[in-house]
Amino acid sequence: MKDQLMMMKKTAEEALGAASSLSELEDIRVRLLGKKGELTAILRGMGGLSAEERPVIGQLANEVRSFIENRLDEQKNLLASSARAEQLKKETLDVTMSGRKPSLGKTHPLTTVLDEVKDIFVGMGFSIVEGPEVEFDYYNFEALNIPKDHPARDTQDTFYINDNVVLRSQTSSVQVRVMENQKPPIRVIAPGRVYRSDAVDATHSPVFHQIEGLVVDKGITMGDLKGTLETFMKTLYGNDAVLRFRPHHFPFTEPSAEVDVSCFVCGGKGCRVCKGEGFIELLGAGMVHPKVLERCGIDTSVYSGFAFGLGLERIVMRRMNIDDMRLLYENDLRFLKQF
Ligand code: PHE
Repeated sequence: MKDQLMMMKKTAEEALGAASSLSELEDIRVRLLGKKGELTAILRGMGGLSAEERPVIGQLANEVRSFIENRLDEQKNLLASSARAEQLKKETLDVTMSGRKPSLGKTHPLTTVLDEVKDIFVGMGFSIVEGPEVEFDYYNFEALNIPKDHPARDTQDTFYINDNVVLRSQTSSVQVRVMENQKPPIRVIAPGRVYRSDAVDATHSPVFHQIEGLVVDKGITMGDLKGTLETFMKTLYGNDAVLRFRPHHFPFTEPSAEVDVSCFVCGGKGCRVCKGEGFIELLGAGMVHPKVLERCGIDTSVYSGFAFGLGLERIVMRRMNIDDMRLLYENDLRFLKQF
């Protein structure tokens, strides 16, 4: 029996040393020390031993058992730590490696400049309103003193949906909507898309953007209009910007003016960009016509107002030195990335 036990110890030592996984170790444990294992089988023969031999063999059996148990534990730890080392090696993270740069988008030049314009007017106490792009003929024309047979309709080549509905040809339609819904004092700007049946070229597009401005209050004069526009232009183009008001006609303002700003390239001397004029036309403006006010239920013996309509594309083109309007709509990244 003693030989059997010593033999068992030896084969256990070999088997454990060769085991390469935790499940192999478990198999060995069951085979040697399990209820139906080798050790149990050997000890079953104890009954045939003499009284002197029994404690000696018993002690030896215990030694073999704890030897095998210790070796099992050792092997288990060894396998676990080499598995861990293997895992760490595989999952190494090189923190010095350069990362992948996310490509960030940015706002379109039209949006960038519109945001600037909004900021300037909000800073002067204006609020921002919107109106529909598909508009009733009434708001786009009738209410602005442009009846069906008025020649001013010819210059605005309008897209008609039907006799009463158009794609708005100017943001001035929003003036009427605001005055119908709001009592003075009114101080709003209304940016948005407008549509005209124009052929596309370097300075024309059937879809473009305007920014309408409207102020109605007690004692509003042309001086307020000039001061407001001057503050706006100087904030946008710098303090040397000079404004020029030219008499003009709009059916819904009286008096009316077209407003030019000194050329940002030559400062007024005349150059290629301003076509020798020294000035660049930017907007239409004037004092809101009393009939328009009255049509919206505003008492003209108490209130007066001014309005203006800026072309956003023009401002952007002047601002960013872009000489062809089509570039703003082509979504060509080579162009857009420059701003
Ligand atoms: N709506 C006019 C246009 O599109 C511009 C304008 C707006 C003129 C407000 C006067 C007052 O030409």
